[in-house]
Amino acid sequence: MLTFKQNIRGNVALGVNPLGCKQEVLNQIDYVKNKGTFEGPKKVLIIGASSSYGLATRISLAFGAGADTIGVSFEKGPKNERNLGTAGWYNNIAFREAAEKEGLVAKNFVQDAFSHETKQEVIDYINNEFGGKIDLVVYSLASGIRKDPTTGETHKSAIKAIGEPVIGPNINMQEESFYTQTLEPATEQEIADTIKVMGGEDWVLWMEALKEAGVLAEGVLTTNYSYLGTELNHSYYGGGTLGRAKADVDDKATHINHLLADINGKAQVVVATAVTTKASSVIPFFPVYCMGLYKVMSEKGTHETPIEHIDRIYRDMVYGDKPEYDEVGRLRPDNWEIDSDTQAKTKALIEQINAENFTSDMTAYGLFYKEFSNLSGFMVDGYEEQEVTLEDLKALTF
Ligand code: NAI
Repeated sequence: MLTFKQNIRGNVALGVNPLGCKQEVLNQIDYVKNKGTFEGPKKVLIIGASSSYGLATRISLAFGAGADTIGVSFEKGPKNERNLGTAGWYNNIAFREAAEKEGLVAKNFVQDAFSHETKQEVIDYINNEFGGKIDLVVYSLASGIRKDPTTGETHKSAIKAIGEPVIGPNINMQEESFYTQTLEPATEQEIADTIKVMGGEDWVLWMEALKEAGVLAEGVLTTNYSYLGTELNHSYYGGGTLGRAKADVDDKATHINHLLADINGKAQVVVATAVTTKASSVIPFFPVYCMGLYKVMSEKGTHETPIEHIDRIYRDMVYGDKPEYDEVGRLRPDNWEIDSDTQAKTKALIEQINAENFTSDMTAYGLFYKEFSNLSGFMVDGYEEQEVTLEDLKALTF
């Protein structure tokens, strides 16, 4: 029988509890089902579908709107008792099993979304097996590395400031420590590489390939999750390399809108709220911002996990009657986070956080840590231990 151990290096989770991941997917499905159904898309492609925002999107649209889904992700399966693979691997399996039980199509492609081959394989599948054209394409990829499919060159993103170094507080969950971090400014090359990896180029390549192949339905929508943040994180996010990449996504949305004009399609940038994910936990200083923000938002009753936020986005905003757009047409479900009172209280709280008190009830460290643990199947509500062997896990297919 296997035992699952939470293993954290810095703020990166290395261990996984496959059964906990399954329970977490089931919990999210329950959340959506309890909200009831809504009118939405029926044939959805999600690029970056195996965790956090992409997974939540898939769950909300499948179990809320009855959508058939194709999910593309990059995950690893179990090798041996010390290396059981990644959480997203098990999330894909749990999702597919649950969706198929309801008679929904749930196809997983576990391979590099940046490559031409993956795009072609997805297109072939849509043409030959999916049973209809795509009416929603969701781009929810987060990666530190991208191999350019044309040049073969590999680019690495760098989460850095621009211009001046930034000095501020961060936490290390492995050591449960609080420390002062210095973030150096990026070089021009690092800025360009981060745009290459996390900007909108690959989104355009996907939309061009799908359009060219004729697999997009009339009136297709494509969404891409962005983050703008506020003054409290501008120096290392909005004003840093990631901010540049997100500005590129805005530019590429304009390009895609032109591309889709003749089929009445639309590209929609969705500025999503700060949540605890594999990607966001490694952004310098961001965990401390979250620990302050979540405390304030929990007290106001506005704190959301990815499934709560995403379900609100599609149910109420994209396919509902409560969308809120900004002056350049981006959807702004981050309205609760950027609320001025929320930000003022978060600022005041963050200024009080220090090495002595950061794990106390004064902050949302406990909540942040639980949400972080849930991502790899630990501390999951409703989880019950079961006997499972490596062979059992290897027998599971995505
Ligand atoms: P995540 O790390 O939880 O998920 C990333 C997904 O991309 C996973 O499904 C992973 O398998 C997939 N992926 C990565 N590289 C891949 C590759 N080469 N080929 C195929 N799939 C690949 O990330 P998260 O946080 O859900 O981010 C998704 C998007 O949401 C990003 O654009 C992020 O900037 C944005 N966002 C995140 C916020 C946050 O607080 N976490 C806030 C607002 C926006």
